Amino acid sequence: PFVVTDSCILCKYTNCVDVCPMDCFREGPNFLVIAPDECIDCSMCVPECPVGAIYNEIDLPDDQRHFSRLNAELAARSDWKPITRSKTPLSEHALWSSAHDKLAFLEI
Ligand code: SF4
Ligand code: F3S
Repeated sequence: PFVVTDSCILCKYTNCVDVCPMDCFREGPNFLVIAPDECIDCSMCVPECPVGAIYNEIDLPDDQRHFSRLNAELAARSDWKPITRSKTPLSEHALWSSAHDKLAFLEI
């Protein structure tokens, strides 16, 4: 499956969700994840993300590998609901779009 990584945190542009044919995305307060058991590896979401947050699991950079398990865990939560239409990014997205290691700010 494909995996949403660190760059999405605190930005949440949501362009990715419009193109997903399987409606795999789940939404938390400041991050999205992909439900791995629903993703068909079409890769259509990858170029939609303005901050390059989405990777095929097999191509994950070493420092992003932990996001694979995190996507699966958060997608399984009942309070992380499906999101199928894009919406306004988070208000401080421009401030955070080039930041790294934002996991400490993840809201669950
Ligand atoms: Fe959806 Fe395709 Fe992206 Fe998987 S790779 S999340 S199926 S758009
Ligand atoms: Fe996140 Fe990029 Fe989608 S910032 S919400 S993965 S478009």
